[in-house]
Amino acid sequence: MSYKPESVISYSSKILDFIAKKKLSDQEKDWVTSETLEGFKENCNPGFLEYRKAVSNNYAAVEWEDSGTGFTDLQGRKYIDCLGGYGVYNLGHRHPLVVEAVRNQLERQALHSQELLDPLRAMLSRLVAMITPGELKYSFLTNSGTESVEGAIKLARMYTGRPGIIAAVGGYHGKSLGSLSATGKAVYRLPFLPLMPFFQHVPFGDAEMLRKTIASSHAVGQEIAAVILEPIQGEGGVVVPPDDYLRQVRDICDEFETLLIIDEVQTGMGRTGMLFAVEHFGITPDILCLGKAFGGGVMPIGAFVSTEVIWEKMIPNPFLHSTTFGGNPLACAAAIAGIKVIFNEGLIEQAAEKGNYILPKLQRIARKYPALSEARGKGLLIGLEFTDDRTGYRVARGLFENGILVAGTLNNAAAIRIEPPLTIAIDEIDVVLEVLEKVVKRVTEGHNE
Ligand SMILES: Cc1ncc(COP(=O)(O)O)c(C=O)c1O
Repeated sequence: MSYKPESVISYSSKILDFIAKKKLSDQEKDWVTSETLEGFKENCNPGFLEYRKAVSNNYAAVEWEDSGTGFTDLQGRKYIDCLGGYGVYNLGHRHPLVVEAVRNQLERQALHSQELLDPLRAMLSRLVAMITPGELKYSFLTNSGTESVEGAIKLARMYTGRPGIIAAVGGYHGKSLGSLSATGKAVYRLPFLPLMPFFQHVPFGDAEMLRKTIASSHAVGQEIAAVILEPIQGEGGVVVPPDDYLRQVRDICDEFETLLIIDEVQTGMGRTGMLFAVEHFGITPDILCLGKAFGGGVMPIGAFVSTEVIWEKMIPNPFLHSTTFGGNPLACAAAIAGIKVIFNEGLIEQAAEKGNYILPKLQRIARKYPALSEARGKGLLIGLEFTDDRTGYRVARGLFENGILVAGTLNNAAAIRIEPPLTIAIDEIDVVLEVLEKVVKRVTEGHNE
């Protein structure tokens, strides 16, 4: 044994002390910062230190606590969160009702027995059936978005008995091998080829190309089980398809008896001004994937949801697809509370109204300053298109220095997403707009941010 148990105990005790503290001394803060940097460098991945805005300034921003629409770093600097955990924090950070539900559940039972019937799984699934469109009825609860997609792909193949999956170029569905096979970005796929067989990609927004691809695949005996799409591409840079695209996709899927999987891991739970973004387009999917904000911004949980007819295949052997932690009581408690909060606080309407407030103002900034080519989106899922990655990164870094966090890392910043908590206040939006204009102006003029 190369380590001393006493050292393990002493190091873990020190960390547990830090977790338990409400306030840290300057010396303790220095210790946490240096251990964090050292841990990333030596034991996580030093690559992160290159790419993150949090270390691009003359200080390292180490997160410490969060609440409402933002968070505070170890040094007490406050940030308005316009990254929103890429769609996790629709309800804001640590919404009190969600925290209370999780705390209450934790005091009774944390994880499930794996054998007795767990009530929250059943009740959350009933709630999901209530709020999802069309005939969607049965849920399988997962731990993450990628797992929701994995399950959806397996279900589609099992139900149809067909191998083929068609996804969109620029789409994002996760990075485990099955979901990565559907993800449509070369940079994530290339090092892992070959991925799953029988996956193809078509341009997003081009229904005719989809029809031709399915028809050709069927003609050569490679039948298509499902088409998987985000209703609005998130990671792809907030790409809103033409108004009639998803309606056409639905019709094409029906014509070829192909299932339509809609991935609302990022667009779901009110983000775009509808509970689910498909509702903007008036269609219902055969399988719906959830994740991110589904856990109320407090716990990780996802789901894939489908209809009674399709779920038939899952019933004879319910262990055909399973997970140890998926749908555990803590995560279910958070999701149940999260759904209540979305409706209780009118978050769907808030997303629509605030999106209508901010988007035209962003578009005005885009018209004024060439560094920002375009602002687009729906509700509070907004994409800012910059002339290139470098320009976008300089803007993202400038915003960060001014206490506003947006997505955009060194190698992926030409299109920056703005997806704040749906609870963001109008005066916070005004601050974001004011700072953004100042930073975009400076970057357009060639100043270094
Ligand atoms: C649309 C979509 N699907 C799937 C995923 C994967 O989710 P996770 O990172 O929880 O595995 C993401 C994550 O960004 C996503 O945006």
